[in-house]
Amino acid sequence: MCGIVAYVGHREAYPVILKGLKRLEYRGYDSAGIALNDSKLSVYKKQGKVARLEESLVGVELKATIGIGHTRWATHGEPSDRNAHPHLSASGRLAMIHNGIIENYASLKLELEKKGYAFKSDTDTEVLLNFIDDILIRNQCSLEEAVRIALKRVVGAYVIVLMDEEDPSTLIAARKGSPLVIGVGENEHFLASDASPIIEYTKQVVYVNDYELAIIKGNELILKNLGNEIVTPFVQQLDLELAAIEKGGYDHFMLKEIFEQPKTIFDCLRGRLDIANQDIIMSGVQHYMEELKTANRIIIIACGTSWHAGLVAEYIIEELCRIPVEVEYASEFRYRNPIVNKGDVLFAISQSGETADTLVAIERAKEQGAIIFGILNVVGSSIARISHAGAYTHAGPEIGVASTKAFTAQLVVLAMIALKIAKEKKSISNARFMHLMHELNAVPEKVKEILASTEKIKAVASKHAAASSFLFLGRGYNFPIALEGALKLKEISYIHAEGYPAAEMKHGPIALVDENLPVLFVATKDAYHEKVVSNMQEINARKGKLIAVVTAGDHSVLSLTGDLIEVPEADEVIAPILNVVPLQLLSYYIGVERGLDVDRPRNLAKSVTVE
Ligand code: G6P
Repeated sequence: MCGIVAYVGHREAYPVILKGLKRLEYRGYDSAGIALNDSKLSVYKKQGKVARLEESLVGVELKATIGIGHTRWATHGEPSDRNAHPHLSASGRLAMIHNGIIENYASLKLELEKKGYAFKSDTDTEVLLNFIDDILIRNQCSLEEAVRIALKRVVGAYVIVLMDEEDPSTLIAARKGSPLVIGVGENEHFLASDASPIIEYTKQVVYVNDYELAIIKGNELILKNLGNEIVTPFVQQLDLELAAIEKGGYDHFMLKEIFEQPKTIFDCLRGRLDIANQDIIMSGVQHYMEELKTANRIIIIACGTSWHAGLVAEYIIEELCRIPVEVEYASEFRYRNPIVNKGDVLFAISQSGETADTLVAIERAKEQGAIIFGILNVVGSSIARISHAGAYTHAGPEIGVASTKAFTAQLVVLAMIALKIAKEKKSISNARFMHLMHELNAVPEKVKEILASTEKIKAVASKHAAASSFLFLGRGYNFPIALEGALKLKEISYIHAEGYPAAEMKHGPIALVDENLPVLFVATKDAYHEKVVSNMQEINARKGKLIAVVTAGDHSVLSLTGDLIEVPEADEVIAPILNVVPLQLLSYYIGVERGLDVDRPRNLAKSVTVE
């Protein structure tokens, strides 16, 4: 969602900010803008892509060495030039960018209107900005002081960055609930929603915490809490290379990330799967082993693709560890007065570690005494900082909006956690434990085999790219993969798609089947295989267009008519990690065939930082 970038130092700010905005495009946005402070504030903003803003600025002299930039994902007010950030305050003295939502903006607006303020946009941001402006002018105080006073009245989530025309060497920033990273250079500072706009300049970063305010000049960074006490910045070294956030010869980030999976899965297993010593090394899990082993219940909360990883984990943990598992959408959990008992452990799964609903759901569960275990990709993210323990997925930066490599890494981590608990609990035999260890170890090579059949999958995609609707079916471990296949297709191709448990097909979806409907089965060999083959026969009998992901060499599917995509044989516990890969490729190629921007699908955001 909204991306923020800011710079103060010795370079020209415009090129740094523009490039930063391009790096943040993946987060999802509908308009972009920049403000520069050359002892006079200049604001440039446009609805549409960053490139459109750039074109509009060709030939304009932009020399300032301090500035702020923003990509907006509309919440309050339609996407338009007028609603794009940065906003200028009524006095004309302040410019501000904002990521988040000011929930009590309506009452603040009323207050300001009574004082004679008029608004140029429909945004909550302009309300907060004028609220700060009003305090600044009435109290004749510093901007830092005005921001502090204003934020004490604000309900909601925000990162804000402000510039004051009267102080063209300082940026003021504050954070609550939305991410903010500050890059520390030689007499320069870079601010951004994540590290991607920063890493080509410096790897020294400070992650600003909630309720902190930063006063930033080229050569100085002061952090304070809202009580005006100085906080010592914790400077960390980023473990990230520029190549990781570039396309590296692929047409799209999504394709690059799909093809990275043999490596990302290997990285995820590396140092953890200790086959020689018959062990899984995960210090976070080990530290809380007693609580995990004796847990009454594991509650998994997540959103989107991460929620599908949670569903797979439900099957795995219940099967291997014999611990009851509940999987919840974070957005539902946070509002429904959930019952969290002593002895419950909460797993939060999130690629970004910033999803607003997941963050708040964790806070609710924490208040009730739950142990919070984060399964996260982004190191140092907000969820990482509020979890008691956890395990990183080590998939590297995921830029394509549709999650691919982060999902398979989540599945690998969750399988390892389940195996480790099961071993300690002795809920599975040693032989089964070792078999599954070997199965996990073989995953990177098997994913490579699937990727080798990309051309075949591309041909299947081409055949079905004009469809207007798709049905995805699977059973057991493959049911969440059917859901994930449907979600991927919706996200990337805008084709309506539904995922269903295969056995439920007869309770409704079968009415949709005709000669135009592609029906995709995730039908690798498992405990229910024969039943799923019967379901596929039923689709054949009704002339639906059958597509099936099947186990290589499975004779029981040879009599079927349709497109069969083979994947290597695997234990049913591990198979979901493999089975999702052809579905990722299928969605990708259908999206490309339909001429869509697969890395930046309309309306979607990579990191949903507002509820
Ligand atoms: C957005 C993204 C999805 C992601 C979901 C949850 O909708 O587009 O790809 O699965 O958020 O995000 P998280 O970062 O918490 O996994």
